[in-house]
Formats: sequence, C-alpha cells, structure tokens
Amino acid sequence: MRALSVVLNPLLFLLLFGYYPSVTVKPKEGWQVYSSAQDTEGRCICTVVAPEQNLCSRDAKEGQLRQLLEKVQNMSQSIEVLNLRTQRDFQYIMRMEGQFKELRSKFRQIETNKKTQVNRNFQELKGKMDALQPLIPVLEQYKTDAQLISQFKQEIRNLSMVLTAIQEEIGTYDYEELQQRVLNLESRLRNCMSKLTCGKLMKITGPVTVKTSGTRFGAWMTDPQASPRNNRVWYMDSYTNNKIVKEYKSIADFVSGAESRTYNLPFKWAGTDHVVYNGSLYYNKVQSNIVVCYRFETGRVVTQRALENAGFHNVYPYTWGGFSDIDLMADELGLWAVYATNQNAGNIVISQLNPDTLQVLGTWNTEYSKRNAGESFMICGTLYITNSHLTGAKVYYAYSTKTSSYEYTDIPFHNQFFHMSMLDYNARDRALYGWNNGHQVLFNVTLFHIIKTEDDS
Ligand SMILES: *[C@@H]1O[C@H](CO)[C@@H](O)[C@H](O)[C@H]1NC(C)=O
Ligand SMILES: *[C@@H]1O[C@H](CO)[C@@H](O)[C@H](O)[C@H]1NC(C)=O
Ligand SMILES: *[C@@H]1O[C@H](CO)[C@@H](O)[C@H](O)[C@H]1NC(C)=O
Ligand SMILES: *[C@@H]1O[C@H](CO)[C@@H](O)[C@H](O)[C@H]1NC(C)=O
Repeated sequence: MRALSVVLNPLLFLLLFGYYPSVTVKPKEGWQVYSSAQDTEGRCICTVVAPEQNLCSRDAKEGQLRQLLEKVQNMSQSIEVLNLRTQRDFQYIMRMEGQFKELRSKFRQIETNKKTQVNRNFQELKGKMDALQPLIPVLEQYKTDAQLISQFKQEIRNLSMVLTAIQEEIGTYDYEELQQRVLNLESRLRNCMSKLTCGKLMKITGPVTVKTSGTRFGAWMTDPQASPRNNRVWYMDSYTNNKIVKEYKSIADFVSGAESRTYNLPFKWAGTDHVVYNGSLYYNKVQSNIVVCYRFETGRVVTQRALENAGFHNVYPYTWGGFSDIDLMADELGLWAVYATNQNAGNIVISQLNPDTLQVLGTWNTEYSKRNAGESFMICGTLYITNSHLTGAKVYYAYSTKTSSYEYTDIPFHNQFFHMSMLDYNARDRALYGWNNGHQVLFNVTLFHIIKTEDDS
C-alpha cells in the first residue's frame, strides 16, 4: 500500500472541508431558503432551496421568485467554481489513468512473450504496477461522481431557465410541478451535500476547555439534529448512581452555570456514553444492557430495548472502566451503539439503531478488543477507536461500516488533562465533545474528501 499512497497523495488533491453549517432559515411566506452555499477557497457546500406549501399573493410571489432565481443562480455558480477548481486535477488523473492502462497492457505483452528475458528489474517494476492496481476502482468512482455533478449542473441550468421564463409570465405557470422539481432537486442536492461533506478523519485540533465542573467522569453534549439556533447543552455528571440531567439554553449559559431545566430520569444510567439525538436522550440503563430512549419534550421514556448479547456492568468497558460497556453515538448516518459480546470474543461490535424503536438495523463485528479501547466515535459511518484514555492516546483504528473493513490510523490528539472518560462526535458542530478529568472540552476535526468533477475527456 505504500506505493499506492505515495502516488495517490499528489494526484488526488484531497479537499479540505471547513464546513460549518450556516443555515439561514428565513421564515418568509412562500419560498423558504434552507441553507446556502459558498464555494470559495476550497470549501464546497451545495445550495438548497425549497418552496413552502402555501403560495401567497401575486406580488409577493414575484419577489419570492426573483429570490429563488437568484438562489438557483448562486447554486449554479457554486458548482461552476467547484468544477473549475477541480478540472485541472481531474484531467491530470485521467491522463495518469491512460498512462497506467497503457503501461499495464505493455507489461502483459512482455509477460506473454515467452522469448523475453524476465529479469529482476522487470519483476520489481511489475510489483509496483500491481501495487497500483487499486487505483482503478478509485478512478472509476471519480468518473461516476463527476457525471453526477455534471447532471446537477444541467438540472440547475434547466431550472433557472424555467424560473426566468415564469418571471416574465407570472401566474401562468404550474406551481405544483415547479414545486415538485425544486423539492426533488433539493433532496438530491442534500444527498450530494452530505456526500461531499462526509470524509475521512485526518486531524484533530484543540482542545478548547469550555468549562471545568463536575466529577472526573461524565458526559455533556448538544443535539446534532437541532437547528443551529437551538444550541441547548445537556450535562450528565458521573458514570454511576445518577439520574439527573441538567439542561442549559446555550453554551454561554452552560459556561456561566445558568441552568434552564433539570430532568429526573426514571432509571439511573451506567457509564458516560449517552447521546442526545433529535430531541431524545439515549442511554444505558444501570446494570443492564438495556438502551433507554427518553424524550425531553414529554419527559417520558419512549422506548427501551435490550441490546442482544451486549456485555454490561464492566464486563466490556473501555480502558478506564466506569461501566462504559455500551457507547451510544450519532453521526451523519444516524444512531449507533458500540459494545462487545462474548460471541465476538469481547471485540467491539457496532450496531446501527432505529432511533424510534431501537431495533438493530445492521451489525458489524470488528476485531478490536473493547477493553483495549480508550474511547470510540463515529464519523460518516466509520468508527474511530482510540487506544487509551491516558496521555499519549491517539486514534488508532478505524472501521468502515460501508466497506466492512478496517485500517490502523495514527491520529494524535491533545489529552490535556490526562483522563478522557468521554469522546463523541457531533455532526452538526463538526466537533468532538470530550470530558477530560472534570473538564468539558471540544476538539475540531478535519475531514478530507476526494474532489469529483465532470469532463470525461
Ligand atoms: C447570491 O450570491 C450573492 C453573492 O455571493 C449574494 O450577495 C446573494 O445574497 C445571494 N443570493 C441569495 C438569494 O442567496
Ligand atoms: C434539461 O432540459 C433539456 C431540454 O429541455 C432536457 O433534454 C434535459 O433532459 C434536461 N436535463 C435534466 C437533467 O433535467
Ligand atoms: C426527528 O423527530 C421528528 C419528530 O419529532 C421526526 O419527524 C423526524 O423524522 C426525526 N428525524 C430523524 C432523523 O429521526
Ligand atoms: C473550531 O473551528 C472554528 C472555526 O474555525 C473555531 O471558531 C472554533 O473555535 C474551533 N474550535 C476548537 C475547539 O478548536
């Protein structure tokens, strides 16, 4: 794999994402803008627009249409910039592919020609060629995604033509149909966006210490599904013998200690690996492998379910102990549980959960011993595992649920206070929330994604 990565790095120009959701929801009548796109300096975000259901007066319609048109044009510009910026890299890659294929066929010729003296140099070269073999599917993927973007471009062009036309002839257009098209485009752009904003963990920066409070072990979090304006913080001190969740309206309130509410859970929790997702708290009920879903809004347990075969009560905790057997987490793809079973020899098992029913949607068995893991967190369907909770810890292992394969990684992070008892990714904030020896800390993560573009030439 060494030869491959050496060749790949200069070739595939990984794109650095500094995407912080800057969603501007303008509660105007008619057209509603869900999120905006800017694509400068290597940032790629798709623009998304969607009209509201009820349409209002003709004049308002006209103004809103103008705005929508502008949005669509902006969106098209964004994609244009993405293209321009990536075209050169892409052409370079395509040339390399051509050369590679040519070279490969030459090797085949030489090999089949029995008269040729096959010397050591040739064998070495051939070894290098074989090492490059995995490049082919990468290039194929590159081309497919490039086509996708090119199709988006065409659709946006079409849409803005339609919009221009109806601007001139307002009122005569079939709004239902237009709305369908915009909604359709929106959902596909959302997919595009989530695809482009997902990536591989490359770097962890920070931490910033947000607050120093509580015992050495605990959990704090925000809801990745909440709107950006809703930045409520939940705080769950200690890993055992507690069922009080404190809520703060914002990080600032959290820092100043201005609690807005407390919730008295019906059952105590175990460990520190709870997660708040879409308005509900998911946690491991004490002395059991039961996952509880508690809805803050109603103050009730929505559902609870045993995680089949999952070890609990310090049978398979993380390195620091603390009943951290069952780790609940969320990422771009949904809700997950990370635990270990006897069946998997105490190694980490990953299950995706249905957030409403807690039913297991899929399960992956890793070969990483849970008791040798410091912490773990999920980003874009890949589980990242640290090798310790102590000084010198690093992200050591990554398991992709997409490919059911793992790799060893070497991503350090600054364990400032020497004892991490919680580390969880928040997809909205693109941050890792940590509890480090009574300090509530935040890390930023850097994700990389290979740029895709059009032009098959
Ligand atoms: C389109 O982009 C321009 C320039 O970036 C910006 O000023 C304008 O507000 C955008 N229009 C909309 C509707 O977002
Ligand atoms: C765009 O419009 C053209 C002509 O109206 C049509 O042939 C094409 O299929 C449309 N493309 C997309 C992607 O909708
Ligand atoms: C979040 O909860 C709302 C209802 O409270 C539901 O309609 C929506 O589908 C949920 N979203 C996810 C991603 O589960
Ligand atoms: C993460 O990055 C954002 C944007 O650059 C910055 O405002 C924030 O302070 C950073 N947070 C941490 C924990 O480094």
